[in-house]
Amino acid sequence: MKICCIGAGYVGGPTMAMIAHKCDDIQVTVVDINEKRIAAWNSDELPIFEPGLDDVVKHARGKNLFFTTEVDKGIREADIIFISVNTPTKTYGVGAGKAADLKYIELCARRIAEVAEDDKIVVEKSTLPVRTAESIRRILEGAGKSIKFQVLSNPEFLAEGTAVEDLEAPDRVLIGGEDSEAGDKAVQALVDVYAHWVPRERILTTNVWSSELSKLTANAFLAQRISSINAISELCEATGADVDQVAHAIGTDSRVGPKFLKSSVGFGGSCFQKDILNLVYLCEHFGLPEVAAYWEQVVHMNDHQKERFVKRIVRTLFNTVSGKKIAVLGFAFKKDTNDTRESPAIYVCRDLLREHAQVAIYDPKVNEESVLRDLEEVGTFEPDNGKRKHVSVYQDPYEAVKDAHAVVILTEWDEFRELDYQRIFDTMLKPAFIFDGRNILDLKELRKIGFEASGIGKP
Ligand code: UDX
Ligand code: UDX
Ligand code: ADP
Repeated sequence: MKICCIGAGYVGGPTMAMIAHKCDDIQVTVVDINEKRIAAWNSDELPIFEPGLDDVVKHARGKNLFFTTEVDKGIREADIIFISVNTPTKTYGVGAGKAADLKYIELCARRIAEVAEDDKIVVEKSTLPVRTAESIRRILEGAGKSIKFQVLSNPEFLAEGTAVEDLEAPDRVLIGGEDSEAGDKAVQALVDVYAHWVPRERILTTNVWSSELSKLTANAFLAQRISSINAISELCEATGADVDQVAHAIGTDSRVGPKFLKSSVGFGGSCFQKDILNLVYLCEHFGLPEVAAYWEQVVHMNDHQKERFVKRIVRTLFNTVSGKKIAVLGFAFKKDTNDTRESPAIYVCRDLLREHAQVAIYDPKVNEESVLRDLEEVGTFEPDNGKRKHVSVYQDPYEAVKDAHAVVILTEWDEFRELDYQRIFDTMLKPAFIFDGRNILDLKELRKIGFEASGIGKP
């Protein structure tokens, strides 16, 4: 059995590494048009940081796991082809700002249609709007070849930072296929791959559309929990309640459950916002405005959370941050990843720069190039507005905080809990402010040192 995966990103890379690691009898080839990325997958410095991933990759690479830019060869040789390319939100034309841009998916489907010489199972791994499998099928069949294609939906539920754990012991694997004999056979082939290590009862099979919709719904529900607790955090700040106490109290109800109730400066990542907007666009497309508005509110709440965090910083610093050094600790969208896509830090830094602050950034895994690119993409550095020189990226947190008016925590990296806050306090300007956007620090202890400390949803 040979598997090919098109797209060596945050999803394709780790997922295929795990399949190869668990299935000695399957040859897995990951292809990508990005030469730099493929070279990195073949080096000691993998292109993405994920705890435990190095070992999984090293175990299989060169044996039954290969990374290459030879896309056509990979496609031609494979029995099963995963499509795991990026599906960003459209930035132009119809559906701009909401609909998924499927051009990369379509290019893959056309490529497969062109080069395939025998029957293939094509698996959509990327998160996609409902009924994309249908478009893929039509493109494949449109090539008019005598060979047969089966299109499956197999959404990935791994979370970044815990990708290896999630792949090793998933809550479930979801496989959607066509309701036909050929469809069942294709589903079974993919079930057999996962059954190498996932208990059979955790492998769910559905029709294609249920599978596609389940992925969007799962992410919408998870994001909705965060926006819900974040909405309550603002009310906590107004009333003197403590959002962590409220979250704990409601989370003990088994119907609610304790997970995903951590109030924060807002959710980020490549999936949540994109998938909700996809859902909203779908609902509008099908003439369901009330459903669309319901889900869109989750994104509005998230934007509000980021905006009000910056406003609070400005208000607390005597209504101006102009010319003030603000130290930002954490730029990744969550801990244990170098991924910054849709990170709340991007928007917080942009807005601080618009308030003319001097922003000093430290993140243990995000480099200067990524920070500047991200800030540029959201229009922080309009031509010649000089904002670029107000951003500096540090390798050492203690350098970043030196002479700062305020420290702002934007990612919940464990190392931020361990910093020497007395040392930080001593090198900052006074009053020394600290804004914990992740509620990871002990505010009482910080206040004892002398900080003016505040968190999210804290009295
Ligand atoms: C998410 C889904 O969890 C995963 O199942 C899906 O496959 C892809 O999208 P990911 O975006 O990698 O995974 O990370 P996740 O842990 O879900 O966190 C998303 C964002 O929500 C992060 O910015 C995180 O900091 C934030 N978050 C999460 C909170 O603010 N509070 C929480 O309680 C949980
Ligand atoms: C609710 C809370 O569950 C309880 O903790 C609180 O003390 C009082 O309010 P109650 O209103 O008695 O209890 O019943 P509940 O089981 O929560 O159902 C409320 C409504 O939601 C019912 O109309 C029920 O039919 C409906 N419901 C519940 C659904 O439509 N779907 C569900 O999955 C669950
Ligand atoms: P995800 O988080 O969904 O994995 P990434 O952006 O990290 O998304 O990865 C997607 C990868 O897909 C990128 O490395 C990109 O170069 C690759 N890709 C996009 N289009 C094609 C294509 N037509 N053929 C091969 N690779 C592609």
